[in-house]
Amino acid sequence: MVHQSFKMALSKIDMEMDQEKYLREVTRHFRGIEKPLKYGPVIETLNDLVAALHQEFATNYVNIEMVNHIMLSYKSNPKEWKKFAKFDRYKYTRNLVDAGNGKFNLMILCWGEGHGSTIHDHSDSHCFMKMLKGELTETRFTWPENTTAEDHLDTIPEGEEFEYHDALQVIGQRTMGLNDVAYINDNLGLHRVENPSHSDTAISLHLYCPPFDTCSMFEKTTGKRLKCNVTFWSKYGQKVEH
Ligand SMILES: [Fe+2]
Repeated sequence: MVHQSFKMALSKIDMEMDQEKYLREVTRHFRGIEKPLKYGPVIETLNDLVAALHQEFATNYVNIEMVNHIMLSYKSNPKEWKKFAKFDRYKYTRNLVDAGNGKFNLMILCWGEGHGSTIHDHSDSHCFMKMLKGELTETRFTWPENTTAEDHLDTIPEGEEFEYHDALQVIGQRTMGLNDVAYINDNLGLHRVENPSHSDTAISLHLYCPPFDTCSMFEKTTGKRLKCNVTFWSKYGQKVEH
């Protein structure tokens, strides 16, 4: 029997629509799921997870709920992912696990004690984030208004502090534990991800679809936006030289 939510997910598909267009379209209504689906495949290993994702993305018709289910169903096993888990002393690292035939990127992010990201967007893609080790705190923010910090400069009386009206507002915060999955896309806001621990590292598995190599960073107090490239620290277990 076809599950109701499965039918709902597929009902948006236009048979003529290509996969990337479909994924961007589904971004408008998908909000993530917190429990694995009853009818989804069993994912026992990281290899199972990669294989299931390739199967899910093989045609033009991706069920994003199933992608969520696959990420939720995998139970972290360090033996399977340790070869991808490479740390840098100063900053969190992005380590490519699988390039998904150009349709998705699966990567492992390694967070040293106290490491955190900037506030950033997701280039109109889906982002799934699963905890493999430790904890991460995700803080979500509103998008800034259409003004930038520079727009306000003339209005600041000399010597006075000025609170910009387009400062980013916090809209939620959660701390994720082992095997939890968080989902975000640009319609749900911006976020910052941080390892709250100063004694333990954290490791997370991220899936981005469609893949992207640039995104925007934001200053919390001004809403100022900065375009940036995203790079890999390693690919398939091998360090990338820049
Ligand atoms: Fe993110």
